[in-house]
Amino acid sequence: MAGTRTPADEAREAVVEAALGKLDLDAKTRLLAGQDMWSLPALPEIGLKSLVMSDGPIGVRGVHWTADDPSIALPSPTALAATWDPALARRAGTLLAQEARRKQVHVLLAPTVNLHRSPLGGRHFEAYSEDPYLTGEIGSGYVQGVQSGGVGTTVKHFVANDAETDRFTVNNLLSERALRELYLAPFEAIVANAHPWGIMTAYNSVNGTTMTEHHHLVNEILRGEWGFDGVNVSDWTAARATVGAVEGGLDVAMPGPRTVYGEALATAVRAGEVEEAKVDEAVRNVLRLAARVGILEGAEPVVTEPPATVDGEALAREIARRSFVLVRNQGALPLGEGRGEGGHKVALIGAAARDARVLGGGSATVFPSRVVPPLDGLTAALPEGSLTYAVGADPNEELAVADRGFTLRAVCRDRAGTVIGTGSAPNGQIQWMGDDLPEGVTHATLHSVELTGTFTPRESGTHTLGIKGLGAFTLTVDGTVHFDDIQRGTKDDPFEAFFGAPVERAQVDLVAGETYEVALRHVIVVPEGAPLKMIGFALAHQDPRRDPDELIAEAVEAARAADTAVVVVATTDRVESEGFDRKDLRLPGRQDELVHAVAAANPNTVVVVNAGSPVELPWREEVAAVLLSWFPGQEGGAALADVLTGAHEPGGRLPTTWGSHAAAPVTQVVPADGELPYTEGVFIGYRAWEKEGRTPSYAFGHGLGYTDWTYESIELGGGDAGAGAGSGTTVTVRVRNSGARAGREVVQVYLAPVEADAERPARWLAAFAGVEAGPGESVDVVLALPRRAFEVWDESTGAWVFVKGSYEVAAGRSIVDRRVAATINV
Ligand code: BGC
Repeated sequence: MAGTRTPADEAREAVVEAALGKLDLDAKTRLLAGQDMWSLPALPEIGLKSLVMSDGPIGVRGVHWTADDPSIALPSPTALAATWDPALARRAGTLLAQEARRKQVHVLLAPTVNLHRSPLGGRHFEAYSEDPYLTGEIGSGYVQGVQSGGVGTTVKHFVANDAETDRFTVNNLLSERALRELYLAPFEAIVANAHPWGIMTAYNSVNGTTMTEHHHLVNEILRGEWGFDGVNVSDWTAARATVGAVEGGLDVAMPGPRTVYGEALATAVRAGEVEEAKVDEAVRNVLRLAARVGILEGAEPVVTEPPATVDGEALAREIARRSFVLVRNQGALPLGEGRGEGGHKVALIGAAARDARVLGGGSATVFPSRVVPPLDGLTAALPEGSLTYAVGADPNEELAVADRGFTLRAVCRDRAGTVIGTGSAPNGQIQWMGDDLPEGVTHATLHSVELTGTFTPRESGTHTLGIKGLGAFTLTVDGTVHFDDIQRGTKDDPFEAFFGAPVERAQVDLVAGETYEVALRHVIVVPEGAPLKMIGFALAHQDPRRDPDELIAEAVEAARAADTAVVVVATTDRVESEGFDRKDLRLPGRQDELVHAVAAANPNTVVVVNAGSPVELPWREEVAAVLLSWFPGQEGGAALADVLTGAHEPGGRLPTTWGSHAAAPVTQVVPADGELPYTEGVFIGYRAWEKEGRTPSYAFGHGLGYTDWTYESIELGGGDAGAGAGSGTTVTVRVRNSGARAGREVVQVYLAPVEADAERPARWLAAFAGVEAGPGESVDVVLALPRRAFEVWDESTGAWVFVKGSYEVAAGRSIVDRRVAATINV
């Protein structure tokens, strides 16, 4: 069970029961359906305010999908996991609760704890790790942090939503063992450790049943076995059937107003298809959540005093530098000491060094009020005159949303052409969901939206303009109409207007610094029967395409003239996003060629990899250092300067194995006939790499700092592993900082059956802990081996089995770099 009830819980429960007793069937069923994109209806008759939810996970977007409502943007979830620090995840959560309260949001739609089953998964950047234990520990810290600020979480997406292809309909076929040992494990750990107030059920089916109707996984396991007492909210538009959903334990169908609950549910009860007691159960869960977050009159919220204020920008910067993983360093980092005037010269290269990619695409998008790209971060940190910049290669093969240099607003008109309202469009796009429309505008009156304003280019030449979205558009630049037609979709995805690719529609010669009038008019057609009303389109743009050979030659020149060349390579939002999976792991454009060329020109080449998930690094042995910076959040460039200059060491360790596409063991993410069998069973990530005997580019757990560590001893102590975490076997590892500066080490403990068993992985992560020490200092780290580390799921009995025998307990710096070991017999 997830904890026992405190007197405060009992008191809230009494208020919930009393409130429930006052509601009639229609009010109850109304409460279970979204009233709009992000909220549930208020019920003034019981003193219940409207409950507001928002994405998640790196910030709090709020109820508007626009940069007008900015939020702190922390590093991507994989980056957070790369810190291997649940306490830091907790601090991130505390900050997010502060952001949520600022925006009157009660529930954060996060964290995402699906696993890195395959590196091709489009939302890989949004999940923590390939390892269920690390995922559960980071996720627990995050949930504890958010909820310590009085804000709820929905741990998502329950369960097995590990890829994007056909995500609304795919039927994932998994063994009960893979479910228990891998995919359910983080949810189970978080329910036990952090007692989340919510969970989000996924779009996909598992073994034939869609997750919003999964009685076995939701009612029997999540609520029954684990004692989860929070709200089960559907992923957006995932609920499909009234009776199936309520029988399957779904409490809330989002978004609204058109859902399978509300009136449809009341009708089903009246028709005798659903027992009212089932509806009461769901309402009770919603009211309990409302009581916890403090929007149900008479109930004391769980948190009455919000925690001390957190400096969001400082925390974003700290998490970023703690997440960067230095996977290779041949002495190039930190940058040379002679950094004075006329001293160490740095050539910074790469499109992403100037226009940083700080977050992944899709619902995880938030709009920070500022972004520090590497160019700005390094300019501020290095002495004047020591930094040069060259683009080198531009990975944006496609147009991007018209942002830099554009000043646009949205003008809304009715059918007669009369202006009925205006809205802002701060980054060239309109994303209006539900009734979130500019003041004075309704779906009934709105006929067209015109994005209109000016563009002042930063480069002269032939600029390309385009359109993202579906339907009728008119594109005008400086009075000339370039497109006036219908733009059609290519696939049957309700979110294509949001996640689809922009289409080129105009080529115009423009002069840097001049100001041009631009307008993109869109006639609105919201299809009848659409699950929700969405108006989403964007003006897209691309700077003049320079000769790619020339760009590389320029970068090589800059590298040759510098002491160190820092090349920032990146993926684009057409490569990593919600809504689709990756086809390969290559860096887009000519970036690989760029790195080969720069490395040949300067032996001190440092490559910063600005990607949310693994990419191939074919030049990795040719360069002096490789630093993975993930999607580093809004302060990424400042954190990068901290780490490159040596003001701080990079603190990250790989939460996921990095290797090539050809060698990656699990690459099947495309269903056949609607089904995606997880044929690899429990062998994903390092479990699979080890089983296949393949050597990845960089192993799970790997990451260098700026000091050295010696593992001096390992001792096993304390009781019987069977007794469980804390009271079970302890492992004491002595590590010494044998380098010249203070640092932080992540001590990782791996468990391996001495007698190999083909059914089980060769070894797995059983415990880890961070430790800090000054130069020359030794520290003892005490870790507890959890009972679960010795257990497997037995499908024949449907129970966990403690597997007796001899195990090697090894501690080290990664799954392959194990430094000390002992044997335990259990
Ligand atoms: C995503 C969820 C998200 C929801 C609301 C869905 O498409 O899968 O993760 O919370 O949208 O934006």
